[in-house]
Amino acid sequence: MGQFQNKVIWITGASSGIGEAVSKAFNASGATVLISSRRKEELERVKSSCPFPDKVYIFPLDLTQSSSIQAVTSEVLSKFEIDLLFNNGGISQRSLTAETSIENDRKIFEVNYFGHVQMTKAVLPQMLKRGNGHIVTTSSLTGKWGFYLRSAYAASKHALHGFFDSLRMEVEDLGIQVTLITPGFIATEISKHALDKSGNPSGEMDNNQAQGISAEECARQILAGVAAGKQEFGVGGNELRGLFLHRYFPRIFRKILKRTAAR
Ligand SMILES: NC(=O)c1ccc[n+]([C@@H]2O[C@H](COP(=O)([O-])OP(=O)(O)OC[C@H]3O[C@@H](n4cnc5c(N)ncnc54)[C@H](OP(=O)(O)O)[C@@H]3O)[C@@H](O)[C@H]2O)c1
Repeated sequence: MGQFQNKVIWITGASSGIGEAVSKAFNASGATVLISSRRKEELERVKSSCPFPDKVYIFPLDLTQSSSIQAVTSEVLSKFEIDLLFNNGGISQRSLTAETSIENDRKIFEVNYFGHVQMTKAVLPQMLKRGNGHIVTTSSLTGKWGFYLRSAYAASKHALHGFFDSLRMEVEDLGIQVTLITPGFIATEISKHALDKSGNPSGEMDNNQAQGISAEECARQILAGVAAGKQEFGVGGNELRGLFLHRYFPRIFRKILKRTAAR
């Protein structure tokens, strides 16, 4: 049992990849976990593979549907006191800006930005009333700089930094912690689920993801950073060196980034 014992943690995007691994890790650490995403059958699978499935509750929701978020948050908040909200659901992009419709841009923002903002605004009053809570959100290294084939995705992740950095200033003295996580390359199916120029899942596994750290190692790094109360931290492998180069040697960094394979 770890330091999340008896905490109630609500995780979106819990049906696969990072969210699945984080749900299992928090549950292994003694937390009650509420898991959400659209695919109920995948959430059932995650629940049954958690170490303490009797401490796992399923709440399907669609982050693009304001009414779905509203209905599910009211139900959850009437039953649970949320200690930690983990905004993690997301969808990526693999299409050139010139070939991407504005509808696809909006869809990516609905999931990656507005979905998390609505979840946060729903849960925040309960945390403020209690005087404690922790809101953690999965951004990306692409939330720090742009990259090929990801203009809308990068923009949606950048927007998270503006929102959550502002929120932190408002609530940190009221007992609420706000954390942003910037993963690099994690070996999940995110590139297969990413929208192509037609707005359909690309179906392709990128080399960058295939060679990334495992979702389980990512979850281990995430729990360590969250437990340490970090405001923002990267998870991944060698690609995290980019954070240092981007900050202190931006011109060199941009040259290196330009030569990095898009997929
Ligand atoms: N893997 C990487 O290299 C990487 C790098 C940087 C950042 N990230 C971020 O990490 C987070 C998790 O991604 P992942 O790598 O674990 O990819 P993933 O395996 O594709 O997981 C994405 C999750 O988001 C959920 N989701 C997608 N659209 C949704 C919607 N409309 N409503 C509710 N849930 C939705 C999916 O569940 P359903 O399909 O069941 O709804 C799934 O659980 C994302 O925010 C992603 O941007 C990943």
